[in-house]
This record gives sequence, C-alpha cells and structure tokens, in this order.
Amino acid sequence: LPTYFTLPSGDKIPSVALGVWKAEPADVKGAVKAALEAGYRHIDEAWAYGNEAEVGEVIKASGIPRKDIWITSKLWNNHHAPEDVEGAIDESLSKLGTDYLDLYLIHWPVAFGKDGKLDVKLTEDPYPTWKKLEEMVEKGKVKNIGVANFNIRRMEELLAQPLKIKPAVNQVELNYWNPQPELLKWAKEKGILLQAYSPLGSSDKVKETLELPEVKDVAKELGITPAQVIISWHIQRGTVVLPKSVTPSRVVENLKVTALPQAAFDRLEKAATSHEPIKVLDPSPHWGVDLWDVKL
Ligand code: A2P
Repeated sequence: LPTYFTLPSGDKIPSVALGVWKAEPADVKGAVKAALEAGYRHIDEAWAYGNEAEVGEVIKASGIPRKDIWITSKLWNNHHAPEDVEGAIDESLSKLGTDYLDLYLIHWPVAFGKDGKLDVKLTEDPYPTWKKLEEMVEKGKVKNIGVANFNIRRMEELLAQPLKIKPAVNQVELNYWNPQPELLKWAKEKGILLQAYSPLGSSDKVKETLELPEVKDVAKELGITPAQVIISWHIQRGTVVLPKSVTPSRVVENLKVTALPQAAFDRLEKAATSHEPIKVLDPSPHWGVDLWDVKL
C-alpha cells in the first residue's frame, strides 16, 4: 500500500494519520507520543478539537524535525469571515508551536456569524474565505489548502470560481456505513484527494464494524486484526485514513496496514456499497441547516 499520496503542490502526505477529534486533552498527549514512537508522521488536528496545545507540546518534545511531520488543522465555522481567517491560523500555529501548517481545511461548508447564527452569505459562497486561504499559502503560513465535509455540489460550486489554488483534499466521513463511492469517483477524476474521517465508524459503530462477518473473515485469512483490515481497505480505495485512538496499543495496531488481496478488497467494497448508506455523524439538526443536500 502507498505510504503517502502526492498532492498537486508536490508535497507528500502520509496515508495514515492519527486522528485526535474527541481525544481529551488529558489523553491526547499519550496517544501522540505513542503514535510518533510507532512511526506516525501525520497528525490530523483542528482548532475546534481543543487540544492543539497538547499536541504541539508532544511534537516539540519528540525532537522529530518539523519537516518530517505532517500537521493538518482546520478553520472553524465562526472564523470564515475573510478578516478572521489569518487570526484563526495564527492561533493554531501558536498552539501547535509551529510556523506553518502542511494542510489547512475549511472544516465545514457552513459559516456562523459573531452572533452564533448562520451566516447565509458566507455559507452559500465560501469563495471569499477560500481567497484568504490562498493568500495564506502565498504568505507561507500554510502549504496546502482544502475543504472538509463538502459534497459534490458544494465542491463544484467552489471549483467554478476563479481559484488560484484548487482544493487539494476534501476530508469527509468515510467508513463501512457511509462509503460515498460517487464522491470518491468524482474526486479521483478531479485530482482531489479524499481523507477518511471516522474510518472505523466513529465511537458509536466501531464495535459493529469490527464484528462484520466480511471484516472478520478477511482478518482471519490474512492474520491481521479487523481494524487493520478496515484501515487497509481505505488506503486501497485511494484515500488518506485518519483513525482516532487514545489507546497506545491500538495506535500502534492501526499503523500496520497491508495490501488486501483483490478478492478480499472487492468483497469489502461490495458489502460496504450495497446497503443503504448511513451517516454516522451529522451535525445538521444541531446546527439547523442541511449540510448535504438542500440549497439555502
Ligand atoms: P479509543 O480511542 O478509546 O482507543 P474512528 O477513527 O472511526 O472515529 O473510531 C474511533 C473509535 O474507535 C474510538 O472509540 C477508539 O477507541 C476506537 N478504536 C480505534 N482503534 C481501534 C482498534 N484498533 N480496535 C478497536 N477500537 C479502536
């Protein structure tokens, strides 16, 4: 399996990252330390995760040269106003203890105003926000830029703008329950890399995922664990994969990926894509906006 994917900038992004969403500040340090020791060189962060300072501390203490670690962070929904973008990046840089990010993403295709209410204009049209991100690349504060949680329609609308830099990635929920084959195919055609968050099914559905007969059979056949089967499947589909764990033994386990025989890969892909898709995560009801389909 590829250990990295190459972005349009020429930068090589490692195919497995440690995901740290929902990792409590108290747990995250141990997880990042275990990850760096196990050989992870890619940490997927976000301002909204509330643990950038802890992660930055551990990276610094590891002594690993900055250039050897890939750090991603994300712009939160209440920082989309162009005049707020640079400040948000500076805050992440300062917490992470670095002077550049390898990748910076618009976290959701939804913008909130200062009053905490939906900013319809900036939600419908993220181009002003994007232009500011392009400027941040020119300034050297971020090396690559992309989006997260954009569906095909939202991506197409952004791509229709006179972009100087195209989104290098789209980070979305991808797992057995919500494998998004159309988006994956579309993104490959456009040369946009997908990154799989909640790849094991997130907290709610991990157990169920790891007990699926197809997954257990392949694990047994190859002498690997069910989590390793799923993580390997994601990379073989052509996506970066971001498994989250704060358990050191699992952190180590999740980096040991292996190419699946074609028949095993096909069996998993067929099983994942032939049931009704289920979104494991969807903040739409909470935010009072349909993030996926409805035009505002
Ligand atoms: P924990 O962090 O307590 O180790 P996802 O990456 O899909 O969001 O899933 C994260 C969830 O899966 C967390 O609850 C994490 O638990 C659990 N998890 C991560 N890796 C493994 C693994 N190798 N085996 C079993 N559970 C795992």
